[in-house]
Formats: sequence, structure tokens, C-alpha cells
Amino acid sequence: MADWTTYFEGSNPPEKYDENRTRIQEFVSRHSKDGRRLVLVTSGGTRVPLESRTVRFIDNFSVGTRGSVSAENFLAQGYAVIFLHRLNSLEPFTRHFSRVNFLDLLSLTTTAEGSADVQVDPQHTARLVGVLQRYQQVKETGTLLSVSFLSLSDYLYLLRAAAEAFSHIGPAAMLYLAAAVSDFYIPHNELPEHKIQSANGPLQITMQMTPKMLSPLVKEWAPQAFTVSFKLETDTSILIKKAKQALQKYSHQVVIANILETRKKTVTIVTRQEEQVLLMSDSELEAGMEIEEKIIADLVKRHEKFCQES
Ligand code: PMT
Repeated sequence: MADWTTYFEGSNPPEKYDENRTRIQEFVSRHSKDGRRLVLVTSGGTRVPLESRTVRFIDNFSVGTRGSVSAENFLAQGYAVIFLHRLNSLEPFTRHFSRVNFLDLLSLTTTAEGSADVQVDPQHTARLVGVLQRYQQVKETGTLLSVSFLSLSDYLYLLRAAAEAFSHIGPAAMLYLAAAVSDFYIPHNELPEHKIQSANGPLQITMQMTPKMLSPLVKEWAPQAFTVSFKLETDTSILIKKAKQALQKYSHQVVIANILETRKKTVTIVTRQEEQVLLMSDSELEAGMEIEEKIIADLVKRHEKFCQES
């Protein structure tokens, strides 16, 4: 496995990297001066290109539900949120309407004189008002900064930039790493430039292991921050063991362990001292409650304690 410095040496920063790094630094500096706690929420899947002028790529299942719901809950708890998300994945607030054709939210009325007026369809008003009130409050306080990425390397560059910006504010910063990060990639200098031709027969590819960025993140980029990583597995029998191994290896504060199929119903919050299972009852799910509300309420308490003890 290449180490993380070799990884960055062998890949290019994303478009508008300097501009986004400056936006992140200014956001962190402004909110830390106001005494606000900050969190970086990463969200969505990372794309791994197979060609440098990319036609084909490898991707994963993540749509950004965990990240976008969590970001809303951190905002509700008074945090300033950097939302580092996969382009076109779910985002806070707009996610509530992601499955609705926006034209269906509106109704058209025509007056006797023939002029047209557009209004919100009454059946959607209550839902829109609730979301809009929370969204406008966030806009007024300027507590949400959205930054998007597409590929694995875009994500890793921006993750490092945000973590380094956090290094100036000590324990008041939290990193909440919910993005689904690819463990495999093809180094930039090994990518074919042009579209791979099917005339050459079946495709065989060799991918390198992506260095685990949790290691430099905890040791070098943001050593004083409160870091929460996720452990995703499909095999229940190895989940908690792997979560504990991650804590031991990287020495960060929390691993949230989840299984692909049940991730919206149950997670286990694993620390060096304990394992706390969070579970949604059927009635909570039916009432539209989301597990992230419980996850964030729990983490906010742990972060508070961490800040007091640091
Ligand atoms: O978006 P949704 O559809 O709602 O799905 C949410 C989710 C299942 C993606 C989310 O809950 C989740 O589990 N995210 C982490 C997925 C993942 O990358 O798991 P992992 O076991 O491969 O990696 C564990 C941790 O190591 C992650 O926090 C990741 O940030 C980190 N990592 C991974 C690879 C790498 N090269 N470097 C890393 O630091």
C-alpha cells in the first residue's frame, strides 16, 4: 500500500481547490471566533476513474442519506457544519424533496383576465414551511458551508484541507466521516488516457490499495479534534471486532458500526470504554423519525465531555 504522501504526490488536486480551501479556512476562523463548535460531515460515495479522460469509473452504493440527515441534526444542535459531499448526492434540506418532481409542488392559477400565477400546492405547504423555516435560519446564521467532490482524490484533498483548518481550533472541532471511501484506486500515471476499447477483449484491471487516511488525519492533520469514523460491513459477526481494531489502530475517539442492510434501523457506537447500541423502534420509523437524531444527540454529549477534559 502506498503511504499517504506518495498518494498525494501521484494525484492532482481537484478543480477550484485553492478557492475551496480558502472558503473552508475562512468559515472555520469566523465560527471559532464566535465560540461555535464546528463539525466536518463527509457524505456520499467516491468515484474511482478507469480512464484519465473518464468515460468509465467504479462507484459505490452510498447516496448520502447518513451525511445529509446528520448535517441537519448538527445544525439543529448549534454546530457550524462543513458539508463535504459527493456531487449530486443528497444535501441537507433539499433532501426532503429529492423524490418529488418540483413542478408537482406548485399549482398554476389563471385569472379571468388571463394572467397566470404560481403558488405552492396546498397539500405540500405544511412540509415546505417546516423545512424552509429551518433552512432560512441556517442561511441567516451562515452556519452551513457546502463543498462538493466527485472522485476519490478530490475527496481526499478536500478532507485534508478541512482537517488542517481544524488543527487551529483544538477540541472544539469534530470530524464525522460518513462518506463511503473507496479502498482501491488506479494511480494517475497508470490510467489510460483514452476510452478503453472493447475490441481489445475482456478487461483486466489491477487496482492499488488506497492508504487509510484516518492515520495521518488523527496523527498529523487534526490531532486535537474529536474524530468519529464509520465502519461498514455486510457480515455482522466481524463488525464490532473491526470497529475496535480501528480504534486501536488509529487512536481516535469513536467508531460507529453499521451493517449495510440495517443501517437506518440500528448502529453501535463503539469507544475504547463501551459499546452503545442505538435502535429505532417500528413506531419511531413509522412516525418518520431518523436514527441520525439519536446518533448526533449521543455524539454531542460525548464531544462536550471531550472538550471539558481536553
Ligand atoms: O450514504 P448512505 O447511503 O446513507 O450510507 C451511509 C454509509 C453506510 C456509507 C455510512 O454510514 C458509512 O458506514 N460510511 C463509511 C463507509 C466506509 O468507508 O467504511 P470502511 O469500513 O470502508 O472505512 C472505515 C473508515 O475508514 C471510514 O470512516 C473512512 O472514512 C475511513 N477510510 C476509508 C478508506 C480509506 N482509504 N481511508 C479512510 O480513512
